[in-house]
Amino acid sequence: STHGSTEKEKTLAIIKPDGLLGNYTNDIKRKVLEYGFSISKEKIVHLDEVTVKRFYAEHSSKSFFSSLINYMTSGPVLVMVLEKDNAIADWRALMGPTDASKAKITHPHSIRAMCGLNTEKNCVHGSDSSKSAQREISFFFGELSTDVITEHDEL
Ligand code: TYD
Ligand code: MG
Repeated sequence: STHGSTEKEKTLAIIKPDGLLGNYTNDIKRKVLEYGFSISKEKIVHLDEVTVKRFYAEHSSKSFFSSLINYMTSGPVLVMVLEKDNAIADWRALMGPTDASKAKITHPHSIRAMCGLNTEKNCVHGSDSSKSAQREISFFFGELSTDVITEHDEL
């Protein structure tokens, strides 16, 4: 195409509360850069219940929903926009499978193997499709996002 040929694909990544509090941020960012992503936006936010419920609305009927909300509001998170060719699939691959305890066996070099514990406390989030990536990036970085998300000052 003649326009936008240098535009890389974007995805939304989150380092969840245990990743941030467990001091995995630098190790995760090192892997992100090593695998060829650039971090085009980032901010630390402490999500409230209403915001996490909106973010994870697709899971609202699941049995794990309330514990997911508790976990995601338990401390600050680092939200990033990652860019590279094939960013969405490549970030999902680098994260590893949802169940971090299985990731330790099947995907030992993945981020969830490194810092996740189990299916719930799995350390990182990544958009699962191009549609999700667009929604999630504007959720956190779009014009209206500052109305609902309070930024957290310190690391
Ligand atoms: P899901 O979208 O299935 O996984 P992923 O994060 O790999 O896209 O689920 C969203 C989050 O919900 C998941 O990261 C952690 C939480 N979760 C649980 O707490 N228990 C579960 O059984 C599942 C499937 C997910
Ligand atoms: Mg998902």
